[in-house]
Amino acid sequence: METGEIIQIFAQSGFQIDPQALDAIRTSSPEQIQHVVGTIDNSVLVVGIEHIKPIFSISKNIPVSVSPLEILPKQVEIPKKSKSVESTVTILKDITNQSTCIGEYTEFVQYFRDRYSSLGDILRKRVGARPIESLKKRNLDSREELSVIGMVLDIRTSSNGHKIIDIEDPTGTIRVLIHKERDKELFESGCRLLLDEVIGITGTLSSDGNMIFANRISWPDIPNSKNGTLNGKKGGGKAVFISDIHVGSKTFLEESWLKFIDWLDDDINYLVIAGDVVDGIGIFPGQEKELAISDIYEQYEKAAQYLNAVPKHIKIIISPGNHDAVRQAEPQPRFPERITKMFRNDIIFVGNPAMVDIGVKVLIYHGRSMDDIIASVPGFSYNEPAKPMHEMLKLRHLSPIYGGRVSIAPEKKDHFVIDEIPDILHCGHVHTVGVSRYRDVLTINSGTWQSQTEFQKRMNLQPDPAKATVVDLSGMEYKIMDFN
Ligand SMILES: [Fe+2]
Repeated sequence: METGEIIQIFAQSGFQIDPQALDAIRTSSPEQIQHVVGTIDNSVLVVGIEHIKPIFSISKNIPVSVSPLEILPKQVEIPKKSKSVESTVTILKDITNQSTCIGEYTEFVQYFRDRYSSLGDILRKRVGARPIESLKKRNLDSREELSVIGMVLDIRTSSNGHKIIDIEDPTGTIRVLIHKERDKELFESGCRLLLDEVIGITGTLSSDGNMIFANRISWPDIPNSKNGTLNGKKGGGKAVFISDIHVGSKTFLEESWLKFIDWLDDDINYLVIAGDVVDGIGIFPGQEKELAISDIYEQYEKAAQYLNAVPKHIKIIISPGNHDAVRQAEPQPRFPERITKMFRNDIIFVGNPAMVDIGVKVLIYHGRSMDDIIASVPGFSYNEPAKPMHEMLKLRHLSPIYGGRVSIAPEKKDHFVIDEIPDILHCGHVHTVGVSRYRDVLTINSGTWQSQTEFQKRMNLQPDPAKATVVDLSGMEYKIMDFN
């Protein structure tokens, strides 16, 4: 290769190269040189012969005494990056720079209207619903089945043990009764309903027109086969999914993290991080006692050092969580420039939630709503994060309950609605690992890099730290790697 070309390859990755090192690799192929660049530590400014020698000797078990000049062109075959898959990232959806709300009452009205109409449109394809108001105006035959689509306003149990649900559409509200004995499965579904979700109800009307006796509940849900990744379009390369690194906490597992960074090699194309990059400041009472770094910017400086050490060919995508330094109300925008500029400039910062295309579509959501979903649904627990994630897909909504732990910013559009079906739903937040499939969607909750905190001890939460999920995007097979 031309000397100028080699210098340029190093310069593009932020390195200078000294003449002796340049000489040593002059006859190498562009792939070999790219490999060398990808393996040099980020702390290096000028690449010397001492940086190049160990790379070749370690990677192919060649004695260090042998000059790379002698061995490279003749014998060394350096594997190409991930079977020559090009790592490209397209941001499909992100709140960053799109936020319009200031939190006024009228904005909440508009926000919920948008939620109703988006989810109602999905349901209407399957349920021939009529406006709730029309049930009261007309003298309907109470033996005839009819359907409505509404948002759940209230859920309670009658004195006889039946479920009573109030639902609302833009024209009015109506009471729905789910009989405790007539259909066990229906009754169990009724017990799992969440406030503010949008559902279809099919049943018969009471003779006074004030109540529906439910025969069926319909959810927006995702189809069984969506003609997506598993039916034609496939991605390429491998992606690694992690979240909740919590840099700055005393319980951050540095040793495991460094093992993980060491493991990332030529075979990995993407690293997707679903929030809580740092532990933050003042997130919960008494947090200051659990911090190793008590300045938020110093926490990010440290996180940047850790992530800048990831091999350069890996595309990193970072979305924020509730411990990060962005607004707490969701959807959250990406990190501010004061923070992003600490990181290497090829990292892609997105908001929370965000949808990105890496050959397959990945919906990233930190997952704070799981606190509310787990607290509301009988049988759900922090040990099984897949269950609330499947519920999100069934409801086609990432954060259905309003007024719980998640503070929702009333944007004009409900950014939590899952209108476009992803190939992968990636969450974090609960600090436990759960990888599963719901219909054609791979759901990944990727745990944490922090051992049990005092706060978690008090809450009896057992984290599952230092694990990463690697997905082969061409076939969507996955493996959970353990770095404990
Ligand atoms: Fe977290």
